[in-house]
Amino acid sequence: MQKFLSDLGSCTAIIGAQWGDEGKGKVTDILGEHFDVIARACGGANAGHTIVVGGKKHVFHLLPAGCLHEGKPVVLGSGMVIHLATLLEEIETLKRAGVNLLDRLFISGSAHILFEFHKNIDVVMEERRGAKGIGTTKRGIGPAYMDKAARSGVRMEQLTSDLAAVLTEKAKAVKSMYGIDVDMEAELGALKTAAALLKHTIVPSLPDFLRGFIEKKKTMLIEGAQAVLLDLDHGSYPYVTSSFTTATGALQGLGLPPKILSSCIGVAKAYCTRVGSGDFLTEDTGEAGERLRERGGEYGSTTGRPRRTGWLHLPDLKYGAFINGFTAINLTKLDVLDTEKEIPVGIGVEAGGKVIYEKLAGWQTSTKSITEFSKLPKAAQDYVLFIEKQIRVPIRLIGTGQGREEIIIRN
Ligand code: IMP
Repeated sequence: MQKFLSDLGSCTAIIGAQWGDEGKGKVTDILGEHFDVIARACGGANAGHTIVVGGKKHVFHLLPAGCLHEGKPVVLGSGMVIHLATLLEEIETLKRAGVNLLDRLFISGSAHILFEFHKNIDVVMEERRGAKGIGTTKRGIGPAYMDKAARSGVRMEQLTSDLAAVLTEKAKAVKSMYGIDVDMEAELGALKTAAALLKHTIVPSLPDFLRGFIEKKKTMLIEGAQAVLLDLDHGSYPYVTSSFTTATGALQGLGLPPKILSSCIGVAKAYCTRVGSGDFLTEDTGEAGERLRERGGEYGSTTGRPRRTGWLHLPDLKYGAFINGFTAINLTKLDVLDTEKEIPVGIGVEAGGKVIYEKLAGWQTSTKSITEFSKLPKAAQDYVLFIEKQIRVPIRLIGTGQGREEIIIRN
């Protein structure tokens, strides 16, 4: 572990290498205690990670998984869209478990507020798309970023301002475009409640604030949200989210210079899943896919939707490794493959669009809880080494179960 940690350096980003839900929360949780500052950069309550607080499982959507480490500053970046009631609920959940966040939470004043009506618009837009629906999480993400890009959004720095007039104007536009009645009283009430609790957490200039940490030689862990293939620019458009999910996107969302990143961990499942619509070349809609879903508990943590399941597609991992400059891979959930006789891995695509598979031998024995690479069955070792060789990035972390200890760290 020590060698792995020292290789990471002072600023590490953790980035999803597929379509999200790769299990970034676990590695953030494990690494969090070794860094001084934990930051989230982009996205909103579309993300979801399960955190065990006070012996109880909770799904968090806005706070980074590293927020449980007492005393560490937690930063919410300028690239985020923040649904205030959700954030307050998460802070309250932590408080009930005896974890105080309010004195170490720092929210960029440039982050945008995601209103209830953004969620309503998300639902209407999905209905209007009909069969071409994106399958969004209905958390209002697209509409909030639409307002941001149109330069008509409301930012966290305005939280304590009187927003009645701004929202009245907005409500008129929302009614005429989407037929939605904005509940002004509820929206203004939510702002007031949030302002009382959060006004002291708002940072006017996030880059200046973070520079203060850097100058004091503090180390930083950046927790990416969603994943490369959902990136607005570089993902499978239009079946993507509305933010920038790459390492570069995370740096942009925090206002940090590119050269600051000392390492980037790409997190990929040992197989592949996707929620929502869009291409999934290596999807398995048969029995094996069903088995992966059941064994891997592949149901969305934000929406509860069954995830589509299938096999690794190495060209996608190579693509993600290039865009993000992965210095290491965390391959998660290897144990989910334990019962497979044969494991197909997509290695390319024929001219006609057909996936070319390499079929690797399964190991059909339990790898659950194994913490040393040499203790893995030979076929499981070969599986990992095959992927590593193809994508040319060392696989230094391998998940072998849900628990915090169930991980192999390779030096
Ligand atoms: P939106 O971000 O809610 O607009 O959803 C756009 C697409 O991204 C949909 O296919 C969602 O299922 C997917 N998506 C958004 N956030 C996540 C995530 O955290 N994990 C997995 N998929 C996500």
